[in-house]
Amino acid sequence: MHSPQHLKGLSLSAAGLLALIIPLAAFQGSSREEVPDAPASPILLDGWQDLRCAECHGEQAEEWAGSAHAFAWESPNFQAELPHLRRPARCHSCHAPEPLHLAEIGAKPRVRSEYRHLGVDCLTCHLGPEDTMLGPHGRPSKAHATARGDSFKPGANDLCIVCHRVNVGPVIGLARDFDPTGPDGRPRSCVGCHMEFTEREPRPDENGQVDEDALPRPGRSHRLRGPGDPAFLASAFHLSLSDSGPDLSVKVTNRAGHRLPGLQQQSFAFHAVALDIDGKVLGEANLTVNAREYLPAAGFETLDIPGAAAAESVHLTAAHHPHAGGPPVPFLDMKLENASRD
Ligand code: HEC
Ligand code: HEC
Ligand code: HEC
Ligand code: HEC
Ligand code: HEC
Repeated sequence: MHSPQHLKGLSLSAAGLLALIIPLAAFQGSSREEVPDAPASPILLDGWQDLRCAECHGEQAEEWAGSAHAFAWESPNFQAELPHLRRPARCHSCHAPEPLHLAEIGAKPRVRSEYRHLGVDCLTCHLGPEDTMLGPHGRPSKAHATARGDSFKPGANDLCIVCHRVNVGPVIGLARDFDPTGPDGRPRSCVGCHMEFTEREPRPDENGQVDEDALPRPGRSHRLRGPGDPAFLASAFHLSLSDSGPDLSVKVTNRAGHRLPGLQQQSFAFHAVALDIDGKVLGEANLTVNAREYLPAAGFETLDIPGAAAAESVHLTAAHHPHAGGPPVPFLDMKLENASRD
């Protein structure tokens, strides 16, 4: 589809960086470890290896290539909507943006004229003024200037919020009412939940030598965790039982800190069955969480099961319905003991 040649100069020429980045043969072929605990290999964006950044930041590039950000432009779901719109151009800005740090962080993203197929690319988040790469540490490099960026400080959310706070088309701006304080009073952040901890292998020096004693250093994976991952979906909810009179309630509390879901036509379906000690069904209840009946940032919903206060347990299942149709993703199948209710 896109020739490697086309990709080669890519993100760099787009930002006039070509002259700055010298190819370093010594870095090529350095070994790469698998990201620990990564779910099954995702599909990677075509031609990611040809990105110049991938020569030296191969781990980050490979992770990114399997993320929703890499597919923000190529996504068939996104492309399918454009022909039906009178002004499709208003949809382009966040799906193929200019580098955000070249303007004030918080300003509306502007669409790039080139390399749109790379979606939310490396430069979108990392390129600062004067061809400086902004990052969490600003470690020096001969390849390009680096600096510490405020939007990469632990706990900073501004960078992510820029694109995730707007209601537009099918998109619900879930970050507009983000609550940066967790239930335990500790701060929580977009990066903290969506970019998992990982270890980076020690890097070769200018001569291609790796220091034998160097330890792997901590980093965070660019493979975003999202609704495609059942274990991650389950982590969005805290589940508990309570009773009021003859009824039993399953309480579903939002733990993400932002409203759910994030797209129209996307929903969660919960199903609860109250059982007595012999496994006899005492009652059932359903709950749907969708764009209209959403779970607010610090909110909860209940599944009320009439007359089931004496139940021994509740069998709870839940599935996520993707916005573009396709099969529901089951993400919960659990037993809640009534004796341990709130
Ligand atoms: C302000 C930034 C922004 C603009 C402008 C924008 N989007 Fe998006 N879009 C997003 C974000 C953020 C997501 C991810 C939402 C989520 O997963 O909760 C997204 C996701 C999508 C998806 C789902 C993609 C997939 O792979 O499943 C579609 C479809 C989409 N947008 C269509 C549109 C359309 C149509 C427009 C114009 C009417 C538009 N977008 C304009 C930010 C934007
Ligand atoms: C949506 C924004 C975004 C995009 C797109 C993105 N990054 Fe990052 N990147 C981050 C954030 C946030 C961090 C800091 C994570 C942390 O707190 O450790 C980071 C960290 C880094 C670091 C420092 C890593 C370390 O462990 O010292 C490098 C290098 C990097 N990114 C390279 C890339 C490359 C190469 C690409 C494209 C293939 C890319 N990034 C795409 C947001 C982004
Ligand atoms: C020739 C090798 C090379 C190329 C090509 C390269 N980098 Fe780097 N980059 C480095 C080195 C070396 C560092 C120093 C930090 C380290 O050791 O990880 C660095 C640091 C960074 C940092 C700062 C990390 C921190 O410490 O906060 C970011 C962000 C970054 N690069 C992004 C990019 C992006 C985006 C591209 C592509 C446009 C790119 N780099 C291309 C070698 C390279
Ligand atoms: C330039 C705009 C932009 C920025 C900045 C941005 N995003 Fe996104 N994000 C998008 C778009 C567009 C999508 C939808 C892509 C698609 O599904 O096609 C998306 C999708 C996502 C998803 C959904 C993943 C999935 O599997 O469905 C998550 C989670 C996410 N972003 C988290 C973040 C985090 C965390 C940051 C900050 C480090 C961030 N985003 C910064 C535009 C942005
Ligand atoms: C406490 C952990 C946590 C924090 C903090 C958090 N999220 Fe999430 N987020 C989740 C979980 C869990 C899901 C999965 C539920 C879902 O997909 O609806 C999710 C889903 C999403 C989605 C996909 C929503 C959808 O339904 O398509 C996007 C986009 C997203 N988060 C962006 C962000 C952004 C941006 C921030 C920071 C403002 C953030 N998240 C902070 C846990 C978190």
